[in-house]
Amino acid sequence: MTDTSATASPLEFPEGFLWGTATAAHQIEGGNVNSDWWEFEHAPNTVVAEPSGDACDSWNRWSEDLDLVESMGLNAYRFSLEWARIEPEDGEFSMVALDHYKAICADARDRGILPVATFHHFTLPRWVAARGGFEGSDTAARFAEYVGRAANHLGDEIGMACTINEPNIVSMMGYVLGVFPPGVSLDFDRQKVVNDNFVTAHREAVSALRAAPGSYPIGLTLSMAEMVAHEGGEASRDEFREIMEDHFLRATEGDDFIGVQCYSRFHFGPNGFQAPEAGARMTPMGYEFWPDCVGATVRRAAEMTGLPVVVTENGISAADDAERIEYVTAALQSLHKAMADGIDVRGYVLWSLLDNFEWAFGYAQQFGLVEVDRSTFTRTPKPSASFYGAVARSGRLG
Ligand code: FCB
Repeated sequence: MTDTSATASPLEFPEGFLWGTATAAHQIEGGNVNSDWWEFEHAPNTVVAEPSGDACDSWNRWSEDLDLVESMGLNAYRFSLEWARIEPEDGEFSMVALDHYKAICADARDRGILPVATFHHFTLPRWVAARGGFEGSDTAARFAEYVGRAANHLGDEIGMACTINEPNIVSMMGYVLGVFPPGVSLDFDRQKVVNDNFVTAHREAVSALRAAPGSYPIGLTLSMAEMVAHEGGEASRDEFREIMEDHFLRATEGDDFIGVQCYSRFHFGPNGFQAPEAGARMTPMGYEFWPDCVGATVRRAAEMTGLPVVVTENGISAADDAERIEYVTAALQSLHKAMADGIDVRGYVLWSLLDNFEWAFGYAQQFGLVEVDRSTFTRTPKPSASFYGAVARSGRLG
């Protein structure tokens, strides 16, 4: 049940709480031709609904994006650095790309917006993919080298750093479900290799960031879900959770925060995965409408790691923007309740600023606070942008 008990009086969030919104390079920049995703989108018989193309043209329009973040009154913007642009060939670093991301950080700071930089958000340079991507034994080291180069260039313009976005999703989608590069299905051995290499990559990236100039919080972001075990479902729930969450949560020791990203919940019965109850409310992504997953996952992340939590992604794909307002309201209520119970949560970052390229789904999903015209790239804020901006400005819900 969604918690509605607190709707009577406004819910106050603490002073200094981060109110942000997120994007990722490949989903908004456009023309990311040197990445494994571009190749995957254009492969014969690809499972990707449509190519990313020009995306939201944010490579050129990033300052318009920051105008939007600023006009909502948010104090954080999470975006990602594109490794395929920064190191287009093995050992060749692009100063233009590094300067580009440095300018985004600097401009955000000038506007009082904390730049939250993610160093890997699903995509790889083609040359890394050709060497086996994160299956390759030296990819972790190569990743850490790129992270170190970028961090040295950006210095303390960075406000907060996320090493890797949802490594658990990259390996699950890429090696079990076959809908991310390299498009492999049901290969659990390879999934395990990738998961282990991601842990190494995260640890090495943290060291590279700490060795670079600047001082800012560093963490991993993980895709989490509320996981419900129905009678007889405990073992399969625990097994799934070990692979998807616990393996990575254990790897965060010594980090400054854990980034929790959640959208819904999963059910487990004696035969493993189970569909939600008949008639359950579903979203266009095929997820159960379950905003309370935020409270559940931040509690679990905090218990497992002992670290401060930042909700680095949460949101909903909704054609009807009123559903976004409803979902985010309930999500923030569940978050507030967890905080009132003592969970140390430092911020909430809504996915996403813009309607954008939703990976294998293409452009049909609408996660944005802002609509983007696919031919003119004109940005039009939705009512949810005013709603969310009002919450962020006041630090108060309701
Ligand atoms: C997360 C991804 C993000 C976006 C949202 C809907 O898993 O990190 O890029 O696709 O889901």
